[in-house]
Amino acid sequence: HPPGLQMGERSGLRRSECRAKGGAPGFKVAVLGAAGGIGQPLAMLMKMNPLVSVLHLYDVVNSPGVTADVSHMDTSAVVRGFLGKEQLENALTGMDLVIIPAGVPRKPGMTRDDLFNINAGIVKTLCEGIVNCCPNAIVNLISNPVNSTVPIAAEVFKKAGTFDPKRLLGVTMLDVVRANTFVAEVLGVDPKDVDVPVVGGHAGVTILPLLSQVKPQYTFTADEVRYLTDRIQNGGTEVVEAKAGAGSATLSMAFAAAKFADTCLRGLRGDAGIVECAFVASQVTELPFFASKVRLGRGGAEEIYPLGPLNDYERSGLEKAKKELASSIEKGISFVRK
Ligand code: NAI
Repeated sequence: HPPGLQMGERSGLRRSECRAKGGAPGFKVAVLGAAGGIGQPLAMLMKMNPLVSVLHLYDVVNSPGVTADVSHMDTSAVVRGFLGKEQLENALTGMDLVIIPAGVPRKPGMTRDDLFNINAGIVKTLCEGIVNCCPNAIVNLISNPVNSTVPIAAEVFKKAGTFDPKRLLGVTMLDVVRANTFVAEVLGVDPKDVDVPVVGGHAGVTILPLLSQVKPQYTFTADEVRYLTDRIQNGGTEVVEAKAGAGSATLSMAFAAAKFADTCLRGLRGDAGIVECAFVASQVTELPFFASKVRLGRGGAEEIYPLGPLNDYERSGLEKAKKELASSIEKGISFVRK
């Protein structure tokens, strides 16, 4: 059956829209790049989320197959597939949340910035679609280099006059997920009890874990700090090398993206006290974008928290992070302005 439709819809037998309307508040979510390494498991995880009533799966290849597959899961979200640029508008219309894992991933030896030339154009096109079809949606941007693609998205939205800084969030959740895992290993505790703020950006030295603010409170040795900081900053490269040319993190990224999307949806629902790290337009430093803890609410990132007290090691890390971030942000902005 054609993408954009589901079997029941075509035969006139579908009653799920009524079901979606009648039950608990549900949100409409689109995944752009849904047939990719991240997109597929992310589509599955979003189909499992009870806050999702409608799930749109868009890609330039293979989205009909992923859609047919995911749509057979017996959870309540209605799934529709969209294939190719002609169907981007239909994929986006009416969406509350748009998650973007579209674009090429790294191979061994590449930095995230090496992806700029391909992914910048992809992100720009998709954001132009958002401007036209769902300018009020919350956007979760995963495509790398996040430090540049978020500024690109912001420029596209500014140009169109639809930019709301609270609604554009670069997804740095995987850095937090990794930090929680690695710190839990060192502490010998369950990762679910660990909370590591990771600030800055999403590439190499711009990934700045604040180990002095870890919960539960713990004083790490200098060796532990160096080991953990290095492993958190290079967690992505660890996966890229282990996959040896077959891509970068997809499963842990889909998990992190689904976790982050769920916090955005709970914020949209009006839940109180939802706080996560994200890369957003920010006044926390002198840079126009920065990742730090944000409070998610009905309007998106409604509050951005300051970094809190840093130790000497973190202060020097912050200086390095800011230097690299400044040029990545500038590169994104000038890509759209030029
Ligand atoms: P992949 O190559 O497996 O999948 C990407 C998908 O995007 C493909 O299905 C492709 O057809 C699709 N695509 C390409 N152009 C498109 C367009 N114009 N519109 C819609 N879809 C399009 O790559 P993977 O592993 O899923 O990674 C995706 C992106 O996520 C990469 O840029 C990667 O660097 C990034 N990433 C970000 C992380 C983060 O923490 N923010 C972590 C891991 C990866």
